[in-house]
Amino acid sequence: MTPEMIKLSRQNAEKSGYKNIDFRLGEIEHIPVADKSVDAVISNCVINLSLDKQQVFNDIYRVLKSGGRISISDIVATAELPEHIKNNLASISGCIAGAEHAENIKIMLQNAGFKNIQLIPKDSSKDIIKSWVPGMEEFVASFIIEAQK
Ligand SMILES: C[S@@+](CC[C@H](N)C(=O)[O-])C[C@H]1O[C@@H](n2cnc3c(N)ncnc32)[C@H](O)[C@@H]1O
Repeated sequence: MTPEMIKLSRQNAEKSGYKNIDFRLGEIEHIPVADKSVDAVISNCVINLSLDKQQVFNDIYRVLKSGGRISISDIVATAELPEHIKNNLASISGCIAGAEHAENIKIMLQNAGFKNIQLIPKDSSKDIIKSWVPGMEEFVASFIIEAQK
């Protein structure tokens, strides 16, 4: 996302001796990767931060090869978030306020063209979310999101 992050990632990869990896500066709404060129897209706790999640799923679909798949771990809303949480900057940057409801995520994936869509809640996330913001475990949960092009 930022040049500093890319620089640090490259330094860490070099330090660890990883050769089959490269880092590209960009944003998930416009992934710096050619059409139909990748087998799988993985992501951990990033999509909730995007203000245009439909565009994110459309762009993931664009870069995947036919038969390619996604395996995403993210914070998903399980109930309507209270307004004071939705508008709270710390909750937005803390991966809570931007959480989209599971049903809407499914619709966005369908709109993008994905099939075999699965949204699987991780029950163990309740305790983690409770430790971030007590009470929030009633509104959001960590989900595994899988689908195929
Ligand atoms: C909660 S962190 C997760 C980082 C990493 N995936 C992990 O599991 O440790 C969210 C990251 O998403 C990045 N980010 C937020 N919005 C983004 C966007 N629109 N495009 C690309 N990266 C974004 C942030 O800079 C941050 O590094």
